[in-house]
Amino acid sequence: MLRLSLLLLLLSHSTSSMLLGWVESPGYPTGYLPHSSLNWSRCASKGHTLSIRLIHLDLEDSHNCENDAVKVFSDGNLISILCGEREYEDLQSTVNPYLLSSPGGCLSLLFHSDYSNAKRHTGFRGFYTIQDFDECEEDPNNGCTQFCHNYIGGYRCSCRHGYHLDRDRQTCTVSCSRDLSGKKRGDISSPSWPGSYAENANCQYNLSVEAHLQLELHFSDIFDVEQSPDGQCIDTLRIETPSGTLGSFCGQTPPPSPFLTHANQVQIHFISDGFGTNKGFSFHFKTRDKVCPAVATAHSALTPQQPEYVRGQLVTVTCDVGYVVNTQTIQTQSPEYEATCQSTGTWTPSYTCEPVDCGFPGIPKDGILQLVGSDSPETQYQAQIQFNCTSKYYRLEGDDTYTCSDSGEWISVNGKTEMPKCTAVCGKPETSTLSAGRILGGQNAKLGEMPWQLLIKSPRRGGASLINDQWAVTAAHVVERFEEASLQLYGGMVDGRIQASVMDSEKIIIHPGYPKETSGVERTNFDNDIALIKFTSRVNFGPNLLPICLPEKGRGVSENELGTVSGFGMTDKVRKSALLKYAHIAVYSHDECNRTPNLSEQSDKAMTFTNNMFCAGASGKDSCEGDSGGPFILPMLSGVGGPYSLTGIVSWGRYCRTGDNKGYYTKVGNYVDWIKNTIETVETS
Ligand code: ARG
Repeated sequence: MLRLSLLLLLLSHSTSSMLLGWVESPGYPTGYLPHSSLNWSRCASKGHTLSIRLIHLDLEDSHNCENDAVKVFSDGNLISILCGEREYEDLQSTVNPYLLSSPGGCLSLLFHSDYSNAKRHTGFRGFYTIQDFDECEEDPNNGCTQFCHNYIGGYRCSCRHGYHLDRDRQTCTVSCSRDLSGKKRGDISSPSWPGSYAENANCQYNLSVEAHLQLELHFSDIFDVEQSPDGQCIDTLRIETPSGTLGSFCGQTPPPSPFLTHANQVQIHFISDGFGTNKGFSFHFKTRDKVCPAVATAHSALTPQQPEYVRGQLVTVTCDVGYVVNTQTIQTQSPEYEATCQSTGTWTPSYTCEPVDCGFPGIPKDGILQLVGSDSPETQYQAQIQFNCTSKYYRLEGDDTYTCSDSGEWISVNGKTEMPKCTAVCGKPETSTLSAGRILGGQNAKLGEMPWQLLIKSPRRGGASLINDQWAVTAAHVVERFEEASLQLYGGMVDGRIQASVMDSEKIIIHPGYPKETSGVERTNFDNDIALIKFTSRVNFGPNLLPICLPEKGRGVSENELGTVSGFGMTDKVRKSALLKYAHIAVYSHDECNRTPNLSEQSDKAMTFTNNMFCAGASGKDSCEGDSGGPFILPMLSGVGGPYSLTGIVSWGRYCRTGDNKGYYTKVGNYVDWIKNTIETVETS
């Protein structure tokens, strides 16, 4: 009897709750056994909550309820853990209010006891109820913008007079959209104008007239669309035309009147939020003929200049500096075109102005000259590119930075349009010479001391000099009769037996002034004894393979000037030297050279001495058979380290072991133009 009245008392707290059943520990009320457990779970139906009310609790007490415990979970989350003895009033005030599920959620209860109990405990008992969840009162997110009505298992929204529920069934909104297509004049204002406009309004007004007309809006002076203090639009008025959106407009200042839309189809959007009392807007619309705008396309200007143009007017559209006309089919090089204003308010043709594109700069594909940074650089107007050389053995000749100009050309900081070049650094060995013959009386060269020296072993032994990464200079008589042959030149070594770099000849060019030989007759004239050899591919420079400089054009020699001659030719001891030898020799006077020797013991023919030759030697030192074609350099090889230039080419002399120590050399200074022009011609053909 007591229990029943208690229950009634409990239930009377919330009249709408319904008792579903009881939950209690095993063996209640006699007492639970060790190792007993209970796993209970129930769920609420939609729009309802479930609660548990404990009326009795007597469990073994322990720290954190580690031994015996009742645990309650809501949707899997622990919401309460209980043990020990609790008074009914205590349970009612501190525990029961929290044993509540979410709407439509589940409650579960776990009970377990451990192995021992010092004293017998009666356990727990409670009942569980289901009750309606009042969304209107208890759920702030119920979404009803005006009225909310709760019913058992759910809720419903409704609206004041003049509003209706939106599709979301929560928002109260007004009907304000109107289609005014075909109307040439009329008035549009915010809902309830001149009263304050409705909340949650989403109005769309469509205006549409014939294509040659445009809509013109005249706003009334009273304009009041909600705006935040920082100027952001809270409610907005937007005007949409096929060419873009105008607005949002809000605040107290109406858009300028007359407001020309330049469009015959216009959509006006008005959106308000759920708060505020503002008056809104009102405007009158009418039509006028379309005009063409003062801008035909971006990056251009019109001549004649007018604020607007009428149908049939002809203008010249001139692209800004650095821009050219793009007809969509071709990018022209022209900066202007003519356009006519159409009745539809558009310019025809409607070409665009695009930035000039200078394209990828024309540079050799040998990979030596390279662009700094990207391989596919920006190439449009005002783009900048920068060059450098990939190897330290080259120096950039010209400017390093170019800008794409408005004429479509790459122009350097100094106004140059031709691209820079990477030219080989010449005449500067990396290996230094500390002190100092055929190469007679000569001494052995160190590796890298004369990195331009090349050796031709066959068909005729001789020397040559590297002058850039694809060309060598030698004597004409070394390669005569072999012009069509493919020769091998060896470089990068001081021991001819060691295979270092091998260069194959692609082309051999003998100086056209070198006298043709007459068969059977010994040569007495070595005038213009010079030839160029082009390699099949570029050589990779390294410390032991570097070019020698050409002398200045016209560079002659003067008496007693000291230079260094080098080669793998005959020495005092052997006919062919395995090692590269060199000797320092002095230039003889013109008179001395003019006393030409007989070329051999057998020949008494007088040799020809020309202004294209000089002669040099020193006591016991001379070039010799097999040295021909090799270099005579100035200044003399020394610790100064150059730059050295190829002033002479070993050409001829008396059989050197006869000891007159007088060798004749081609005066390279007389051939600088021929060398440069010949290379240029071959390279550009
Ligand atoms: N003609 C010789 C050669 O083909 C070079 C002679 C140099 N003679 C001299 N005495 N410097 O190797």
